[in-house]
Amino acid sequence: MSIKVTDITKIYGQQKALDSVSLQIEQGEIVGLLGPNGAGKSTLMKILSCYIPSNSGKAEVCGFDCNSQNLEVRSRIGYLPESNPLYHDMFVVEYLKFVGKIYNIKNLNQRITEIIELTGLKKEMHKKIGALSKGYRQRVGLAQAFIHDPAVLILDEPTSGLDPNQLVEIRNLIRKIGESKTVLFSSHILQEVEAVCDRVVIINNGKIIADGKTSEINQLIQGEESVLVGFKEAIDMEALKKIKGVLRVKETGSGSYKIAATKDENITEEIYKFAKENNLTLTQLNKEESRLEDVFQKLTAKNVG
Ligand SMILES: Nc1ncnc2c1ncn2[C@@H]1O[C@H](COP(=O)(O)OP(=O)(O)OP(=O)(O)O)[C@@H](O)[C@H]1O
Ligand SMILES: [Mg+2]
Repeated sequence: MSIKVTDITKIYGQQKALDSVSLQIEQGEIVGLLGPNGAGKSTLMKILSCYIPSNSGKAEVCGFDCNSQNLEVRSRIGYLPESNPLYHDMFVVEYLKFVGKIYNIKNLNQRITEIIELTGLKKEMHKKIGALSKGYRQRVGLAQAFIHDPAVLILDEPTSGLDPNQLVEIRNLIRKIGESKTVLFSSHILQEVEAVCDRVVIINNGKIIADGKTSEINQLIQGEESVLVGFKEAIDMEALKKIKGVLRVKETGSGSYKIAATKDENITEEIYKFAKENNLTLTQLNKEESRLEDVFQKLTAKNVG
């Protein structure tokens, strides 16, 4: 087992950030940790990377305890913290040498050449970190996390703030690295988790509320279906919520809505009836496959707007 978390609780002052969390991740898995702001993702990652201790419970990485054997753990993990803290006055290669020496890496120059190649930093390698664009700084953050070839990677929002091109490249890089490593990464981008991960763990208010294969995520919200509906005329969203079987309504554009409804009703028939009774013209009425977004919104409904 690469990561084993048993009954971890973390309290900051009065605030319970993690509440009896248990989680096991096998070697070679790529796991996406999803949750709204303040759910406890970074806290869990900080505990796994030995940055902070938990109040109770046990966290293990590669069989070593994060509290009592933290040097063993640190040598086996690569950690990219949430805000990617770097020394902006250092040059890229200088910084990677500095990190490499901390890990006591042999043939360090050769490893730096490899890691620069892998993370696509070659064209910017002679610059100061402070002079790099955000995407390239993110690559430096990833390079320092991989430099010692760790078995486990803990990446806290590795793609946050990247433009679409950089985002795809960094995602591909994570997927490539994930072929031989265990990766736990947090993200707010649901499509990214669907694209990159084998498994998704959803956390809310310090508790794990769902854990399953990304491909089987639909099963987590059995009993619900999603319908896209559009009207020519302006309508009141509250009226939509009153339709029989409707659970939630979200406006997706002007005059178009996404409706989550119980499978117990024939929702398309109900919506058609609603349009007819109110003299409305339907411009769209399609059933949609549930996606991770629906699961996430349903499970964390109290925390999303
Ligand atoms: N050092 C701290 N002192 C006090 N409270 C903290 C501290 N760090 C985190 N918290 C609280 O713990 C809870 C969990 O925070 P955490 O940073 O783990 O959330 P997160 O899931 O990473 O959120 P985000 O998506 O915004 O990064 C939050 O309510 C936060 O305010
Ligand atoms: Mg966080």
